[in-house]
Amino acid sequence: MARRNKVYEGKAKILFEGPEPGTLVQYFKDDATAFNAEKKDVIEGKGVLNNRLSEFFMTGLNNIGIPTHFIRRINMREQLIRAVEIIPLEVIVRNYAAGSMAKRLGMEEGTQLPRPIVEFSYKNDDLGDPLVPEEYITAFNWASQQDLDEMVAMALRVNDFMSGVMMGVGIKLIDFKIEIGRIFDGDFMRLIVADEISPDSCRLWDIETGEKLDKDVFRRDLGNLTDAYTEVARRLGVLPKTSGTGAKPTLIN
Ligand code: TMP
Repeated sequence: MARRNKVYEGKAKILFEGPEPGTLVQYFKDDATAFNAEKKDVIEGKGVLNNRLSEFFMTGLNNIGIPTHFIRRINMREQLIRAVEIIPLEVIVRNYAAGSMAKRLGMEEGTQLPRPIVEFSYKNDDLGDPLVPEEYITAFNWASQQDLDEMVAMALRVNDFMSGVMMGVGIKLIDFKIEIGRIFDGDFMRLIVADEISPDSCRLWDIETGEKLDKDVFRRDLGNLTDAYTEVARRLGVLPKTSGTGAKPTLIN
């Protein structure tokens, strides 16, 4: 088989040239990083789970008319996606205080916010992805005011969808991050949800127990990350075929 051209390698994923123009293959690695890659590990099975979970969320968004880069899953670790021009922002939606917001404002984690709050970080590892005001985004031309308004509206729609889906399986969506990209269709430009949506990029707490089922398990050394992600996948019914009778499902395809 011909060697594929690697287009980009990030901390958790690799992008290869796709089979047709305008497409890429997104490969999910098992690598986990936190605190801007100060903490690193390889978590067996994470990539397989995130490939499935991102497929699940992106398909759901596509189905309700929120366009995403997802085309189809190719195999255990890869999915075919549309190539986009990524806007260099992390779009974060928060329903409850946690993480950097809780720290910045001295709030107790889990405090419900008066309404969902959308915030933006500038995607730049050297700077540690700093939080930026909307004013910076338009002034530095990272996005126009119209794009910015659309990004906020999209993020809130993604939040409604994700919160509902998670609530249905007994999980509270505390916050999440998405990335948004541009695609060009002749003279027209459209914004679509890109990158991934998975427990790597969300905070997910069990409604009953408050147990964390997301990457904070790794960031804060709270237990086994694969077990947490497997539990999310199991509840959503997206676990690949299981084999054997053991409690732990075997990921086949
Ligand atoms: P924060 O509270 O650390 O700012 O994180 C907010 C949300 O964004 C949380 O769901 C985790 C997610 N996130 C990422 O996906 N990538 C990142 O690099 C960071 C810092 C957070």
